[in-house]
Amino acid sequence: MTIKESLTAYSTEFNARLSEFFPLGKEEEFRVVEAMKYSVTNGGKRLRPFLVNESAKLFGLTFEDTLRTAVALECLHSYSLIHDDLPAMDNDDLRRGKPTCHKAYDEATAILAGDGLLTYAFEILANEKTAPLAQTRADLIALLANAAGAFNGMVAGQMLDLLAEKFPEQNSETMIKRIEEMKTGRLIRYACEAGAVLGKATQQERAKLIDYSRAIGIAFQIADDILDVEGDQALVGKKLQKDAAQGKLTFVSLYGLDKAKILAQDYVEKAKDALSLFGQKAETLRLLADFMINRDH
Ligand code: IPE
Ligand code: IPE
Ligand code: MG
Ligand code: MG
Ligand code: MG
Repeated sequence: MTIKESLTAYSTEFNARLSEFFPLGKEEEFRVVEAMKYSVTNGGKRLRPFLVNESAKLFGLTFEDTLRTAVALECLHSYSLIHDDLPAMDNDDLRRGKPTCHKAYDEATAILAGDGLLTYAFEILANEKTAPLAQTRADLIALLANAAGAFNGMVAGQMLDLLAEKFPEQNSETMIKRIEEMKTGRLIRYACEAGAVLGKATQQERAKLIDYSRAIGIAFQIADDILDVEGDQALVGKKLQKDAAQGKLTFVSLYGLDKAKILAQDYVEKAKDALSLFGQKAETLRLLADFMINRDH
């Protein structure tokens, strides 16, 4: 199977199960659940859920064992996209090939849909169906709160991304690395760490998965920045050529396209090196590292 086929097979199964998590009632307030469902079920590559599953598979876990953790992470990621697209942030009207949440609904509903997805992620994790041991669930919850939050987490990264746009004189390699590590890296790292927690990995196995996730996280964000410049909007499903227009600090604005591509390739190699401990079992994760930069969306 090619990595594209593996991803499609996984996301088909994942998507088929998502609706169960969004029961709709008739009451007016279900508008917010509808908006949440719209944003989560609307396409998306499902890279993070796939990573949770593939990492946990190294330790013998199944799709079913990882589904709830994968859904929780995808809810949290989708919330971050809804808020990222709001007029006060990146002001985008296209996401995953469809109107952004605030365009399909309205701004207030989009804010609430984001809040709803963020909160729901933790409700899903806390349920005993997520993992039999309470300690495992507590670990998954604490890790996600930290990865997504304002202290070195995704929220901090989004703050820095916006500040770098307003104070371009601070642009530097250190700054772009900090932005990436927090805004994108932490959730990608969570995907792999959650797999390790669910799979009761040893400290060494977990550390190697973290090394892998850090390297693919950077490669992934470099590719995202490159796609903004030379991607095909019909495939990417979001408005392109926006980063430069908004004065964003990106890997491309700092290094230029050619150097950014070389850098991304270096990180892909680092990612693969980190997996040697797992041998042949980690082949899909190795292929996924290549896919991070070979993707067209
Ligand atoms: C987009 O993430 C946001 C970034 C962190 C750069 P993805 O490229 O994984 O978006 P979806 O989930 O496939 O839509
Ligand atoms: C967003 O980064 C990262 C998030 C935490 C949502 P970008 O602003 O580069 O993501 P896109 O390009 O809009 O998907
Ligand atoms: Mg942004
Ligand atoms: Mg954006
Ligand atoms: Mg981007």
